[in-house]
Amino acid sequence: MKSSRIEGFYRLPVEERLEKVAEFANLKEEEKEILFKTGSLPMDIANRMIENVIGTFELPIGIATNFLIDGKEYLIPMVIEEPSVVAAASNAAKMARFKGGFKTSSTGPRMIGQIQVAKTNPHLARLKVLERKDEIIEKANEQDPMLVSLGGGCVDVEARALQTIEGDMLIVHLIVDVRDAMGANAVNTMAEAVAPLIEKITGGRVYLRIISNLATYRLARAYAIFDKDAIGGEEVVEGVLNAYAFALADPYRCTTHNKGIMNGISAIAIATGNDFRAVEAGAHAYAAMNGYKPLTTYEKDRNGNLVGTIELPIAVGTVGGSTSVNPIAKVNLKILGVKSADELSRVMAAVGLAQNFAALRALATEGIQRGHMSLHARNLAISAGAKGDEVEKVVEILVKERRIRADRAREVLEEIRRRG
Ligand code: MEV
Repeated sequence: MKSSRIEGFYRLPVEERLEKVAEFANLKEEEKEILFKTGSLPMDIANRMIENVIGTFELPIGIATNFLIDGKEYLIPMVIEEPSVVAAASNAAKMARFKGGFKTSSTGPRMIGQIQVAKTNPHLARLKVLERKDEIIEKANEQDPMLVSLGGGCVDVEARALQTIEGDMLIVHLIVDVRDAMGANAVNTMAEAVAPLIEKITGGRVYLRIISNLATYRLARAYAIFDKDAIGGEEVVEGVLNAYAFALADPYRCTTHNKGIMNGISAIAIATGNDFRAVEAGAHAYAAMNGYKPLTTYEKDRNGNLVGTIELPIAVGTVGGSTSVNPIAKVNLKILGVKSADELSRVMAAVGLAQNFAALRALATEGIQRGHMSLHARNLAISAGAKGDEVEKVVEILVKERRIRADRAREVLEEIRRRG
């Protein structure tokens, strides 16, 4: 058996790493080429972004059109592997325009850094920490004069006693305005820097010092009024309200409901080089704060139009991290035309709402499979080996037959080739 213990792998140049992997996995020349060929993310940049790089990975960038948000026109770059998502967002945004598009707001870009203090009397320690809040804030802000000069920095300290299976603890929160950054670096640096002071104040032992991805002080909100006639009439309004009621009552449905929202939000997070796992974790944790609930709401206004809202934490940056390093992320941010991380988060909330509305409207009416079918058929045709105009010919037959299956795609391709 070949060993995965490869000493000094991380020190090797990319080509040599790839050689080692090729030996291990019996990769053919053309397979190595697939890995080594980069698109717009040059290998030297990729190699500096993470460890042990052997290549880059590409996904499509699709543009969602029609978005009118707070009176401003946006084109939305979305990076996603799933068919129909971009079309659905564009379609929902078109319908939202009838009543002025999306309106957004936010709490501003405040993140939480957690400091875990064990072996202390948590209630007394809590008061002592709060008493010396200013000193803690000052120490935190010494770490990042740049952020402070931009109007950000640590703005508050919170503390609470927590019962755990390892005994009582004190949990201190640094509240940090991170401006246009996602904020993990700034917050983690501050949390680590104030830890000795917190130990001195509490007499306890600090263990974890880390950002919380449950960014409850960094909420983005959006709403839209969907004109009842523009979306297909009263039937559709009732259908969406029933779909929402289902999600509100049932966590199995609610998970899929929220997943659809994240189709839009994560696609923008990826397109702009942001940490989409942080956004996903925050969203689902926020949804679960009072029992797992939808991140959107729907109600009817007095004219029978459908009113949709969304609220969730969206911790994204427009500077720092891979956003500043990945050239594709920079171009996507330019297409979006956002002036701040806060604006980016509000746009993402609006797209999340659009995505959710589109899904519920489709599900409550014709279902989503019809929209999915031709794109899915195209993927199957390409996987079956169809080239050039063979692709469309295979798609046409699969869709007509309503047999969108890999085995059928292969058969149809063979038939087409046999016929010449
Ligand atoms: C598929 O990626 C997303 C949907 O399942 C969302 C939903 O069911 O609301 C269509």
